[in-house]
This record gives sequence, structure tokens and C-alpha cells, in this order.
Amino acid sequence: MIVFTEIAALKAHLRTERFAAAHEGKVLQVGFVPTMGYLHEGHASLLRYARKNNDLVVLSIFVNPIQFGPNEDFDRYPRDPDKDKHLAEREGVDVIFLPSVEEMYPQPTKTIVRVEELTERLCGAARPGHFDGVTTVVSKLLHIVSPNRAYFGQKDAQQAAVVAQMVNDLNMDVEIVPCPIVREEDGLALSSRNVYLEPEQRQAALVLSRSLRDAEQTVRENDQITAGEIFRQITRSIALEPAAQIDYVEISYFPSLIALPDSMSVKDAEGDILIAVAVKFGATRLIDNIILAKEVS
Ligand code: PAJ
Repeated sequence: MIVFTEIAALKAHLRTERFAAAHEGKVLQVGFVPTMGYLHEGHASLLRYARKNNDLVVLSIFVNPIQFGPNEDFDRYPRDPDKDKHLAEREGVDVIFLPSVEEMYPQPTKTIVRVEELTERLCGAARPGHFDGVTTVVSKLLHIVSPNRAYFGQKDAQQAAVVAQMVNDLNMDVEIVPCPIVREEDGLALSSRNVYLEPEQRQAALVLSRSLRDAEQTVRENDQITAGEIFRQITRSIALEPAAQIDYVEISYFPSLIALPDSMSVKDAEGDILIAVAVKFGATRLIDNIILAKEVS
């Protein structure tokens, strides 16, 4: 496993690897997993998908300042590059790209990649400018690595949809591969931010996955249930948890992220449906979601 901190050195290495493969008459397949580090089993699962389907796996670790708002946790975002390197090694990563902020942004960027509409609701409404930061850095990383496939978790379903839209709109030559959410045994979705939780908040945070699971069950058992009723069921159950403060509960089509009308029966909706929640526990904001796939009849 090789660790690069400089863009030029990483590019030169990838060029050499591609050239060597071409020399043997092969096209090197590169799989890429962008992260902000403090890796956990959710990240590890993306690395495993990448390892399975590519010749070379590149992992990037970069806490991207431009996707954090002024009052967000950029400075205190957890970092542990040594532990990350061990996990990466265990998962068979070939190359880690671990640039500094100065390497990625030698001057403040004057170019911002913005995806319209998809970024206006859910996390975009609560975190203005966040997705511009994400699409700008992901676009930079995709240009640097030029992977054949890039892996994104459904944990951040909106992010995956926004990146897929960007890649499609800008004709970027990469396949965006969505990967399922990895959870703790008790249901909590893994997140680097879970370390912020006090023990009581950690317990209270189970309300996210529980309310989503209950919603799924309700939809399964009740053909007529409407989006509005599901919204109220989830809101009520989160409100019962005193430590939890709701940021949003949204029921929308996926991946368009267009809201379902309140009166629409969830079963009658045409297409996959995303039920997404964001809840604060003290200063810590957690997100979770489920996607109800349209049953093909
Ligand atoms: P980060 O939060 O580190 O997440 C990196 C990738 O891991 C994302 O695609 C995310 O969806 C995925 N992931 C996180 N928790 C997961 C879980 N429990 N199960 C499955 N996948 C999970 O997302 C970012 O970093 C950044 O915004 C980034 C895309 C790197 C741009 O800076």
C-alpha cells in the first residue's frame, strides 16, 4: 500500500500503473472510495466492493473544509490517519491519497460545481452550501484519480444522488456505485460522528433506525397509508425521545428527491421512495434513511 500526499505524485503513479497494464494488453480497472477518514465498517464495506470489482483500489482521506458551514464541526471532526491506514491495509487498498488542505486548495477555489434542485431540500436546506462543497471536491478528486468506478454509501442517499446527477450532467467517465448502509447490531447507522455522542445520546439515537423500520413495517402492512401519515408516525416517535431534536423528516421520490404529496398513498407512488431523517442530539446531527423499492408487478 502506498500513501500519497501530493496530487502530482499520485497522478504519476496511476499513469505508470495504467501504462504497465496496457503493455500487457489490459485496461487497468480503478475503483475509488472518497472519504473524510476516521474509517469504520461502513467505509470498509465500500472498500470491499471496490476490491472485488477492480484491479486497483484508491482510497482518499480528506476532511474537506469547503463542505462545512461556519458553525459546523470542521475543526473538531475526528481524525486518526494511523488507524485509517491499518483498516485500509486490512481491506487490501493499493493507494491512499491523503492530501493537506493546502495541496487541495493552494488558493481559495474560484470554481464551484453546483447541482441545482436536488441540493435544495433535505440536508441542503439545513446546510446551505454543503453540497456545493461536496460536488466541488468530488469533482476534483475524480479528475485527479480518473477511476472507472467510485463507491458511495446510501447512508448519505442525497449525496449519492447529487454526485450521480453531476457525473451524468458533466459526462464524467465514471460509474457511481451506490452501496447499502452498514449498521451497528442495535440498528444505529455507522458514522464518524457517532463518537461525539454521550452514552445517553447514543441510546436515544436508536430512535432514527427504529422509526424508519417501523415506517417500513407500516407501509408493508397497510396498502392505503399516505405519505402524510407516515411523516406523522415518524415525527411522533422521534418527539417521544426527549434528547432528540428533529431537523427534518422527508418522504420523497428517489433519486429525484421530489417530495411525495401528503395525500399520496406510499404504495401507489411510481418509483422508489426515500424516507430520510435528520435529528440532533445536543450539537451532534445524525442522518439515516431507508429506500422503499417500487415493487415490480
Ligand atoms: P464520509 O462521511 O467519510 O463518507 C465516505 C463514504 O462512506 C460516503 O460515501 C458515505 O456515504 C459512506 N458511508 C458512511 N457511513 C456509512 C455507513 N454506515 N454505511 C455505508 N456507507 C457509509 O461522505 C463523505 O465522507 C464526504 O462528503 C465525501 C464524499 C468524501 C466528500 O468530501
